[in-house]
Amino acid sequence: MKRSEINAIMQDADAFIRAHGFHLPPFAYWTPETWATKGPGVREIVECGLGWDITDFGSGDYPRVGLFLFTIRNGRAENLKRMRGKLYCEKLLIVGVGQVTPMHFHWSKTEDIINRGGGDLVIQLYNATADEQLADTPVTVSVDGELRTVPAGGKIVLTPGESITLVDHCYHQFWAERGRVLAGEVSLVNDDARDNRFLEPIGRFPAIEEDVPPLHLLTQDYARYYRG
Ligand SMILES: [Fe+2]
Repeated sequence: MKRSEINAIMQDADAFIRAHGFHLPPFAYWTPETWATKGPGVREIVECGLGWDITDFGSGDYPRVGLFLFTIRNGRAENLKRMRGKLYCEKLLIVGVGQVTPMHFHWSKTEDIINRGGGDLVIQLYNATADEQLADTPVTVSVDGELRTVPAGGKIVLTPGESITLVDHCYHQFWAERGRVLAGEVSLVNDDARDNRFLEPIGRFPAIEEDVPPLHLLTQDYARYYRG
Protein backbone atom coordinates (compact mmCIF):
# COMPACT_ATOMS: atom_id res chain seq x y z
CA MET A 1 0.00 0.00 0.00
CA LYS A 2 1.14 3.56 -0.61
CA ARG A 3 1.63 5.72 2.50
CA SER A 4 -0.55 8.39 0.88
CA GLU A 5 -3.38 5.85 0.67
CA ILE A 6 -2.92 4.91 4.34
CA ASN A 7 -2.93 8.59 5.39
CA ALA A 8 -6.17 9.16 3.47
CA ILE A 9 -7.78 6.06 5.04
CA MET A 10 -6.82 7.38 8.52
CA GLN A 11 -8.42 10.78 7.90
CA ASP A 12 -11.55 9.25 6.43
CA ALA A 13 -11.81 6.68 9.27
CA ASP A 14 -11.38 9.38 11.92
CA ALA A 15 -14.30 11.34 10.45
CA PHE A 16 -16.46 8.18 10.24
CA ILE A 17 -15.67 7.24 13.85
CA ARG A 18 -16.49 10.74 15.13
CA ALA A 19 -19.70 10.78 13.12
CA HIS A 20 -20.78 7.75 15.20
CA GLY A 21 -20.01 9.59 18.46
CA PHE A 22 -16.97 7.42 19.19
CA HIS A 23 -13.52 8.85 19.97
CA LEU A 24 -10.01 7.46 19.67
CA PRO A 25 -7.50 7.93 22.51
CA PRO A 26 -5.04 10.86 22.28
CA PHE A 27 -2.05 8.75 21.20
CA ALA A 28 -3.91 8.10 17.93
CA TYR A 29 -3.02 11.65 16.90
CA TRP A 30 0.68 11.68 17.77
CA THR A 31 2.89 12.60 14.83
CA PRO A 32 6.10 10.73 13.91
CA GLU A 33 7.98 13.67 15.50
CA THR A 34 6.07 13.23 18.78
CA TRP A 35 6.81 9.51 18.71
CA ALA A 36 10.54 10.26 18.41
CA THR A 37 10.41 12.12 21.77
CA LYS A 38 8.70 9.27 23.68
CA GLY A 39 10.58 7.16 26.22
CA PRO A 40 9.99 3.92 28.14
CA GLY A 41 6.70 5.25 29.55
CA VAL A 42 4.84 4.33 26.37
CA ARG A 43 6.26 0.84 26.01
CA GLU A 44 2.81 -0.69 26.55
CA ILE A 45 1.55 0.97 23.36
CA VAL A 46 4.43 -0.47 21.37
CA GLU A 47 4.71 -3.91 22.94
CA CYS A 48 0.96 -4.61 22.96
CA GLY A 49 0.47 -3.26 19.45
CA LEU A 50 -1.99 -0.50 20.33
CA GLY A 51 -2.96 1.92 17.58
CA TRP A 52 -3.62 2.17 13.86
CA ASP A 53 -3.59 -1.07 11.90
CA ILE A 54 -4.66 -0.75 8.26
CA THR A 55 -4.19 -3.73 6.02
CA ASP A 56 -4.97 -4.96 2.52
CA PHE A 57 -3.78 -8.47 3.52
CA GLY A 58 -1.26 -8.15 0.69
CA SER A 59 -4.05 -7.96 -1.92
CA GLY A 60 -3.09 -4.60 -3.42
CA ASP A 61 -6.84 -3.84 -3.51
CA TYR A 62 -7.89 -2.42 -0.11
CA PRO A 63 -11.53 -1.61 -1.04
CA ARG A 64 -12.16 -5.28 -1.96
CA VAL A 65 -9.83 -7.16 0.42
CA GLY A 66 -8.83 -5.14 3.44
CA LEU A 67 -9.66 -4.02 6.94
CA PHE A 68 -9.29 -0.91 9.06
CA LEU A 69 -8.45 -1.66 12.70
CA PHE A 70 -7.50 0.46 15.68
CA THR A 71 -6.37 -1.50 18.73
CA ILE A 72 -7.60 0.45 21.74
CA ARG A 73 -6.31 -1.93 24.44
CA ASN A 74 -4.51 -5.26 24.56
CA GLY A 75 -2.59 -7.40 27.02
CA ARG A 76 0.50 -9.51 26.63
CA ALA A 77 0.38 -13.18 25.68
CA GLU A 78 2.45 -14.13 28.75
CA ASN A 79 -0.33 -12.78 31.00
CA LEU A 80 -2.41 -15.78 29.93
CA LYS A 81 0.09 -18.18 31.50
CA ARG A 82 -0.24 -16.62 34.95
CA MET A 83 -3.88 -15.53 34.57
CA ARG A 84 -3.05 -12.07 35.87
CA GLY A 85 -3.06 -8.59 34.42
CA LYS A 86 -4.66 -7.53 31.16
CA LEU A 87 -6.08 -10.66 29.55
CA TYR A 88 -8.32 -8.81 27.13
CA CYS A 89 -8.26 -6.80 23.93
CA GLU A 90 -10.55 -4.21 22.37
CA LYS A 91 -10.39 -3.04 18.79
CA LEU A 92 -12.40 -0.72 16.60
CA LEU A 93 -12.93 -1.91 13.02
CA ILE A 94 -14.33 -0.30 9.90
CA VAL A 95 -15.67 -2.71 7.30
CA GLY A 96 -16.58 -1.42 3.85
CA VAL A 97 -19.42 -2.68 1.65
CA GLY A 98 -18.05 -5.76 -0.12
CA GLN A 99 -14.68 -5.30 1.59
CA VAL A 100 -13.68 -8.80 2.66
CA THR A 101 -11.55 -9.84 5.60
CA PRO A 102 -10.40 -13.25 4.30
CA MET A 103 -11.30 -16.60 5.85
CA HIS A 104 -9.33 -17.31 9.02
CA PHE A 105 -9.55 -18.68 12.53
CA HIS A 106 -7.61 -18.19 15.73
CA TRP A 107 -5.94 -21.06 17.57
CA SER A 108 -6.34 -19.42 20.95
CA LYS A 109 -8.42 -16.25 20.81
CA THR A 110 -12.18 -16.13 21.32
CA GLU A 111 -13.55 -12.85 19.99
CA ASP A 112 -16.85 -11.03 19.97
CA ILE A 113 -17.47 -8.99 16.83
CA ILE A 114 -20.00 -6.23 17.42
CA ASN A 115 -21.88 -4.14 14.87
CA ARG A 116 -21.72 -0.72 16.53
CA GLY A 117 -23.45 1.14 13.72
CA GLY A 118 -23.82 1.77 10.00
CA GLY A 119 -24.83 -1.02 7.62
CA ASP A 120 -25.06 -4.78 8.13
CA LEU A 121 -22.08 -6.97 8.95
CA VAL A 122 -22.18 -10.34 7.18
CA ILE A 123 -20.11 -13.14 8.68
CA GLN A 124 -19.59 -16.43 6.84
CA LEU A 125 -18.76 -19.42 9.01
CA TYR A 126 -17.19 -22.87 8.82
CA ASN A 127 -15.90 -25.25 11.43
CA ALA A 128 -12.26 -26.27 10.97
CA THR A 129 -11.26 -29.88 10.31
CA ALA A 130 -8.43 -31.50 12.27
CA ASP A 131 -6.04 -30.53 9.44
CA GLU A 132 -7.29 -26.91 9.54
CA GLN A 133 -9.36 -26.98 6.35
CA LEU A 134 -13.06 -26.08 5.94
CA ALA A 135 -15.37 -28.68 7.51
CA ASP A 136 -18.78 -29.48 6.00
CA THR A 137 -20.50 -29.64 9.38
CA PRO A 138 -23.11 -27.17 10.69
CA VAL A 139 -21.77 -24.28 12.75
CA THR A 140 -23.32 -23.24 16.04
CA VAL A 141 -22.53 -19.74 17.32
CA SER A 142 -23.80 -17.42 20.01
CA VAL A 143 -25.41 -14.22 18.73
CA ASP A 144 -25.92 -11.94 21.73
CA GLY A 145 -26.19 -14.97 23.98
CA GLU A 146 -28.65 -16.87 21.79
CA LEU A 147 -27.45 -20.00 19.97
CA ARG A 148 -27.86 -20.04 16.20
CA THR A 149 -26.91 -22.89 13.86
CA VAL A 150 -26.11 -22.42 10.17
CA PRO A 151 -24.93 -24.93 7.55
CA ALA A 152 -21.23 -25.00 6.59
CA GLY A 153 -20.50 -21.73 4.79
CA GLY A 154 -23.70 -20.21 6.16
CA LYS A 155 -23.94 -16.51 6.93
CA ILE A 156 -25.00 -14.58 9.98
CA VAL A 157 -26.06 -10.98 9.35
CA LEU A 158 -25.46 -8.59 12.24
CA THR A 159 -27.56 -5.42 12.15
CA PRO A 160 -26.43 -2.44 14.26
CA GLY A 161 -26.31 -3.42 17.92
CA GLU A 162 -25.91 -7.15 17.30
CA SER A 163 -22.79 -9.16 18.08
CA ILE A 164 -21.42 -12.66 17.56
CA THR A 165 -19.02 -14.76 19.60
CA LEU A 166 -16.38 -16.53 17.49
CA VAL A 167 -14.60 -19.22 19.48
CA ASP A 168 -11.17 -20.62 18.63
CA HIS A 169 -10.92 -22.81 15.51
CA CYS A 170 -14.15 -21.34 14.03
CA TYR A 171 -13.37 -20.15 10.49
CA HIS A 172 -14.83 -16.74 9.65
CA GLN A 173 -14.71 -14.15 6.91
CA PHE A 174 -16.76 -10.98 6.86
CA TRP A 175 -17.78 -7.94 4.87
CA ALA A 176 -20.42 -5.19 5.05
CA GLU A 177 -23.66 -4.84 3.13
CA ARG A 178 -26.09 -1.92 2.83
CA GLY A 179 -23.54 0.53 4.25
CA ARG A 180 -20.11 0.80 5.84
CA VAL A 181 -19.98 -0.68 9.34
CA LEU A 182 -18.31 0.62 12.47
CA ALA A 183 -17.53 -2.61 14.30
CA GLY A 184 -16.02 -3.47 17.64
CA GLU A 185 -13.98 -6.45 18.67
CA VAL A 186 -13.71 -7.58 22.29
CA SER A 187 -11.50 -10.61 22.79
CA LEU A 188 -8.92 -12.51 24.69
CA VAL A 189 -5.40 -11.05 24.42
CA ASN A 190 -4.59 -10.61 20.74
CA ASP A 191 -1.35 -11.90 19.26
CA ASP A 192 -1.34 -11.10 15.55
CA ALA A 193 2.15 -12.51 15.12
CA ARG A 194 1.14 -16.03 16.21
CA ASP A 195 -2.62 -16.51 16.45
CA ASN A 196 -4.02 -16.07 12.92
CA ARG A 197 -4.64 -19.10 10.73
CA PHE A 198 -5.62 -17.83 7.26
CA LEU A 199 -7.09 -20.45 4.93
CA GLU A 200 -5.10 -19.04 2.01
CA PRO A 201 -1.53 -17.86 2.62
CA ILE A 202 -1.80 -14.06 2.82
CA GLY A 203 -0.01 -11.25 4.59
CA ARG A 204 -1.46 -9.90 7.82
CA PHE A 205 0.41 -6.58 7.46
CA PRO A 206 0.89 -4.66 4.19
CA ALA A 207 4.16 -3.75 2.50
CA ILE A 208 4.29 0.06 2.42
CA GLU A 209 5.57 2.32 -0.35
CA GLU A 210 6.73 5.55 1.31
CA ASP A 211 5.56 8.11 -1.25
CA VAL A 212 4.74 10.76 1.42
CA PRO A 213 5.54 11.05 5.17
CA PRO A 214 3.20 9.23 7.60
CA LEU A 215 0.39 11.29 9.13
CA HIS A 216 0.28 8.94 12.15
CA LEU A 217 2.20 5.73 12.74
CA LEU A 218 0.79 2.28 12.15
CA THR A 219 1.63 -0.32 14.79
CA GLN A 220 4.01 -1.86 12.25
CA ASP A 221 5.91 1.49 12.08
CA TYR A 222 6.83 1.65 15.78
CA ALA A 223 10.07 -0.31 15.34
CA ARG A 224 11.33 2.39 12.97
CA TYR A 225 10.31 5.52 14.89
CA TYR A 226 10.19 4.67 18.60
CA ARG A 227 13.51 4.94 20.45
CA GLY A 228 12.28 4.28 23.98
FE1 LIG B 1 -10.86 -13.09 13.56
